[in-house]
Amino acid sequence: MKILVTGGLGFIGSHVVIELLDKDYEVVVVDNLSNSAISVLEGIQAISNKMPEFEKLDLRNKQALSDFFGKHQDINGVIHFAASKAVGESVENPLLYYENNINTLVYLLQELQQLPSSNLIFSSSCTVYGQADTLPITETAPIKPAESPYGNTKQIGEEIIKDVCNVDDTLNAIALRYFNPIGAHHSGLIGELPIGAPQNLVPYITQTAMGIREQLSVFGDDYPTIDGTAVRDYIHVIDLAKAHVVALERLINNEMVSNYETFNIGTGKGSSVLEVVQAFEKVTGKALNYKIVPRRDGDVTAAYADTTLANSVLGWKSQFTLQQALASAWKWQQNIEVIKES
Ligand code: NAD
Ligand code: WQD
Repeated sequence: MKILVTGGLGFIGSHVVIELLDKDYEVVVVDNLSNSAISVLEGIQAISNKMPEFEKLDLRNKQALSDFFGKHQDINGVIHFAASKAVGESVENPLLYYENNINTLVYLLQELQQLPSSNLIFSSSCTVYGQADTLPITETAPIKPAESPYGNTKQIGEEIIKDVCNVDDTLNAIALRYFNPIGAHHSGLIGELPIGAPQNLVPYITQTAMGIREQLSVFGDDYPTIDGTAVRDYIHVIDLAKAHVVALERLINNEMVSNYETFNIGTGKGSSVLEVVQAFEKVTGKALNYKIVPRRDGDVTAAYADTTLANSVLGWKSQFTLQQALASAWKWQQNIEVIKES
């Protein structure tokens, strides 16, 4: 079985590649390296003792993508990670996001439509729910107006795939709505590689503990939550990666009830920002320098998943604790410095 992983050298994609290789899938990775490094391939090989096929390709290049599919008519499934993901940057430069996240998806779907049959997994996000009216969040919760062009690309992306599935029963697709992926491979050889100052909580915490950032700003302590800080569902990237494999198996084995399905992928447990900080301090034995600052624009109060559907239909459940995920993120952060120096 040959699986194409777009954006497969990125944070989540690289962990999924490991899981696929582990299950003996033949993996072809395409990535334009806009938010990843070619050295990730070495990490993948060191962990799995296998090397996926890799092609440096920008999905915005429609002709290059078409040529790629010309060479790879035998692809059994596509896991589509390639996209830009910085919420703030998407507000500054919306067209970059519509081009990189929407045009590329359209080009990919156009190629898939030319195959006799195709299977697609799309990286969606809990951001589509905005501030949900009810917690935990089920897949039937209303989709809220997007807070950012990035969030909009995930909503539109889902709609585009659904529309195509409606008229083309040779396309089977699953959108996975990730909650907050964190952590790294337990080997410490691959993980998240933020460019510049991290936007997300956990890399900011690990960089602060490392002394790269002076202080973590905790955005708001006046939310109506357990300690006033915002609540999220932090999921270990390895648990998230395994969810892709079971979703892929559902597609390949034709087990779907409808040819377009959506699943929440989270732990089902909410943790506040201060709970994450405290868990990190406990796991590492390091005191974290942080201060409370005003809320960040666009942040919701609380979001955590109802994972009943993924548990029952995919037979998938997260295994790792928040502490384990934070320990792996910390191991990775320490290794990045070693990798950079070597
Ligand atoms: P990432 O930036 O680490 O990985 C994305 C990869 O895609 C990178 O390696 C990048 O170089 C590549 N890429 C980007 N544009 C490309 C293009 N035009 N052509 C080819 N390659 C391209 O991001 P990630 O955290 O691994 O996220 C993967 C997917 O999951 C994205 O679609 C993202 O929106 C989605 N997602 C991420 C999160 C999160 O918190 N990390 C949450 C929900 C959804
Ligand atoms: C988590 C919590 C912050 C940084 C974003 C995207 C979402 C999805 C995941 C892709 C929040 C607080 C953060 C900091 C802080 N990505 N925080 N200080 O905002 O839930 O989701 O990433 O799809 O679309 O919006 O994740 O990690 O940025 O923040 O206090 O320096 O940590 O306010 O409450 P978020 P995050």
